[in-house]
Amino acid sequence: MSTSESLWLLYFTSKCSAILSPENITFFLLSLCFVWLSFSLLSWSYPGGHAWGKYYLNNWNYHYNTIPGPRGFPIIGNMNLMSSSLAHQRLESVADSTKAKRIMAFSLGETRAIVTCNPDVAKEILNSSVFADRPIKQSAYSLMFNQAIGFAPFGLYWRTLRKVSATHVFSRKQIVATEAQRQKIADQMVSVVASLGKDNEFEVRDILKRASLNNMMCLVFGREYDLSDNNNNNNKELDELSELVHEGYELLGQLNWADHLPWLAFLDLQKIRRRCSKLVLKVNQFVSRIITEHRVAQSSSNLTGPRKFHDFVDVLLSLSETNYKLSDLDTIAILWEMIFRGTDAIAILIEWILARVVLHQDIQSKMHEELDEVVGKKQPVKESDIPSLTYLQAVIKEVLRLHPPGPLLSWARLAITDTIIDGH
Ligand code: HEM
Repeated sequence: MSTSESLWLLYFTSKCSAILSPENITFFLLSLCFVWLSFSLLSWSYPGGHAWGKYYLNNWNYHYNTIPGPRGFPIIGNMNLMSSSLAHQRLESVADSTKAKRIMAFSLGETRAIVTCNPDVAKEILNSSVFADRPIKQSAYSLMFNQAIGFAPFGLYWRTLRKVSATHVFSRKQIVATEAQRQKIADQMVSVVASLGKDNEFEVRDILKRASLNNMMCLVFGREYDLSDNNNNNNKELDELSELVHEGYELLGQLNWADHLPWLAFLDLQKIRRRCSKLVLKVNQFVSRIITEHRVAQSSSNLTGPRKFHDFVDVLLSLSETNYKLSDLDTIAILWEMIFRGTDAIAILIEWILARVVLHQDIQSKMHEELDEVVGKKQPVKESDIPSLTYLQAVIKEVLRLHPPGPLLSWARLAITDTIIDGH
């Protein structure tokens, strides 16, 4: 180092030590806190609260027609509204008090959220290609759902998976082809209830969940269980999976504060990350075992002649012969998602239908009348009768409207760009 350079260094060091005096550092930190506090309070004063205010302030040069909504608390916004099992009712009363008739804005920590119960606005949102993604959830990522259909980012991978499942799971042909399997499970449910006798109490939910899981296991994994046989080893597998699904449903449905307040994430206060890591290991083991069995069956059938596709595992494994080769983890994630989504939603919906018709005997009688008229008193109901059972269909739709069987916000959509909804 030359002499002039050394002198410059000495000069800067002396200046810095003057600037970095304890008083100056304290003043600097206090000013920073003051600016941060003022900005937080200013952003909090906007309708919809802190996250919305921050957005409006950062984009002050645009002219917005602000969306009405509650301010909530500074920093956390309206997290308190959502951490209740009756969050939908709380949202409704807040919408009333803030005069948010068609659409309401609110802040969940750092996340800007809107909610509507107006059918036209809902249609506008759901039909818009802008709302093609889902918000990032720590639990969904930890449980590998970002590699499955529901949480995969919008793009070729997601479109391909939707196409594959539309053809092989949800198509009319596939639904007709699996009718016998559903009929068998329905018969098993009836015989389980009958075997319990009139005087025994039982939880209808347990039977519905096992039946629904059985149905998904046939469809996805090609596995069949007998609901009426409790000692069967296969049924232990069903119970094991039932627990995994239940735990997954709880984790995905829980409001995770870390999703909206990222600086809380490393603390994992709700233990969601820890529980997800444990669960995902068990799911990996369970599903990998079934995939391996399918691979073995496929390779042995290659020796004896071509094998027909039986279930969704076969379909996904067959993709390796096309351009859409999936990794083992992708395959596990997709299969697990199908089981996970298809099981509880159906069981919960049927439970609500039963609860509603028990409470409304007049409606139950009308349903019986329709069944007697369309199907006959002694005949079992067939799926081909459904188009003629218009009253039954209306009841199911009304229950779906009153009790949508999924955790609130777990079907939320994420806008991939800024957009205008209902003039805002
Ligand atoms: C009562 C029954 C069911 C109800 C009420 C229900 C409801 C829903 C809803 C509201 C969505 C979000 C749609 C959206 O954001 O556009 C969804 C997505 C999904 N459901 Fe279901 N579902 C049911 C049964 C099933 C079954 C049986 C399966 C599987 C066999 C399934 C698999 C899926 C999948 C994979 C997605 C993600 C689709 C995507 O994001 O593109 N669901 N479901």
